Amino acid sequence: MLKLEALSAAILMSNNLEKHNANPDVRPSAQNIKLEKGSFATTPPIPRPFKSSFTPEILKAYHAGVMNYTYRGLPCLKSPIDLAIYMLIIWELKPATIVEIGSFQGGAAKFYKDITQAYGMDTQVITVDFRESQYRGGEEDSQIEFVLADALELEKSQLHTRLDSAPRPWLVIEDSAHTFSVSYAVMEYFMKRLLPGEMLIIEDGIIEDQGGNWRYDGGPNRAVCEFFQKFPDIYELSERHNDFFGRNLSYNPNGYLVRTDKRQVNS
Ligand SMILES: C[S@@+](CC[C@H](N)C(=O)[O-])C[C@H]1O[C@@H](n2cnc3c(N)ncnc32)[C@H](O)[C@@H]1O
Repeated sequence: MLKLEALSAAILMSNNLEKHNANPDVRPSAQNIKLEKGSFATTPPIPRPFKSSFTPEILKAYHAGVMNYTYRGLPCLKSPIDLAIYMLIIWELKPATIVEIGSFQGGAAKFYKDITQAYGMDTQVITVDFRESQYRGGEEDSQIEFVLADALELEKSQLHTRLDSAPRPWLVIEDSAHTFSVSYAVMEYFMKRLLPGEMLIIEDGIIEDQGGNWRYDGGPNRAVCEFFQKFPDIYELSERHNDFFGRNLSYNPNGYLVRTDKRQVNS
């Protein structure tokens, strides 16, 4: 059983790696984001500068904690500042559906589910990954649904049809590859699906301040910047959430986005 699982995971992985040969983040670990000395932001300041308020020294120590953090025994690769902002957003938006792209072992999905239950909300958490073998979420948990899908091809995936019956409002969190192409593809897919006022969070633009942007082809910050250049009226930045603890004091600089009502795009 284990051998079979390992074999199918290896086949899926090699297929995915072929398609995602620019993706350095298929197996997150404390080691795979290299912090470089003297790193600086390079993304043009659109919709505004992406530089975080972390100093390099604090960011380095903080990052080690983020990569080692667990929630109920499962890795939950989130900055505690962002977890607090997520809790605030969940309370304010009251999402009936939370879509997380990038499940890893399912720690963050469990966190979202627990928070919504503690708040008395009947929220369905849908967590999406292109690899299933690493997922440890419990089948007993009907409020969390795992969907196998590639973030680059959401329109062709099971998620596309699943979302047709997903209750509103939605909160969508992109936390998968962090490459430019994947972050951009998720922004593009959800511009057609989100309703005004619903939110999309593009995670981990912080890799730019960590000097790792080149490994992600410009990463989430380039995606947000180029998306805003091409489509200035689809999303607006929720500065209040983004800067809640200080300007861009978050792992998701300029990543807290609200779907506007300025333009409809048919799906
Ligand atoms: C940073 S981890 C997710 C961490 C998780 N959200 C958490 O906070 O604990 C990134 C995950 O994205 C998945 N992933 C990478 N590229 C993907 C893609 N193109 N489509 C779907 N999932 C992808 C990886 O398999 C990995 O499990």
